[in-house]
Amino acid sequence: MAPHPGIPVTVRPARPDDAPAIARVHVDSWRETYAGIVPGDFLASLSYERREQMWKSGLEHPGWKGVLFVAEAPEHGVVGFVAGGPPQEPDGEFSCELWALYLLRAHQGKGTGGQLFRRFTSEMASRGHSSMLLWVLAENPTTGFYERMGGVKVREREIEVGGKKLVEWAYGWRDLGTGRW
Ligand SMILES: CC(C)(COP(=O)(O)OP(=O)(O)OC[C@H]1O[C@@H](n2cnc3c(N)ncnc32)[C@H](O)[C@@H]1OP(=O)(O)O)[C@@H](O)C(=O)NCCC(=O)NCCS
Repeated sequence: MAPHPGIPVTVRPARPDDAPAIARVHVDSWRETYAGIVPGDFLASLSYERREQMWKSGLEHPGWKGVLFVAEAPEHGVVGFVAGGPPQEPDGEFSCELWALYLLRAHQGKGTGGQLFRRFTSEMASRGHSSMLLWVLAENPTTGFYERMGGVKVREREIEVGGKKLVEWAYGWRDLGTGRW
């Protein structure tokens, strides 16, 4: 069901008690997004409990370097989130990484992904980051969204997910302050 027309989605910092809802969006959105790209048995094996534990332990840990915002829709609760922080692998070129950005399909295409993306990048810029990297599967049409957000394809690598080889592209932003390359 779509959110109420005219009632805006709220984007706010995540709290530890959001972990179950973030995990639900994470797993459901993976299944919606990657069906036909990632092997079905891998998608079936994803666990709400494991994802909840992962996000909860980060959000509860006082020294966690992650940044996590949720999008909340009236009467629907958390329908999307964005997370990121230090690069997952040491990087001499980009100072931070967007690790994950997911919205339930029913809530896509209404401006919420752009809102989450801009909130995250302005937070990272205010923390002193001037550049950002993220990885996305080449087959994922979301590459178009990141281009719309000003990202430039900077790298390519091969990864294996559930026993299948897939290509990932990295998008980079060199000037987070303006959102431009
Ligand atoms: C990617 C995602 C977060 C975008 O969120 P969204 O709410 O659907 O996007 P928005 O409505 O905010 O769109 C913002 C702008 O990007 C454009 N856009 C959105 N998706 C696009 C796409 N796939 N290709 C090109 N442009 C796109 C919109 O047209 C809009 O343009 P405008 O500013 O000219 O109006 C969302 O579709 C999603 O969660 N997808 C599935 C999960 C996923 O693949 N996550 C990334 C994993 S790395």
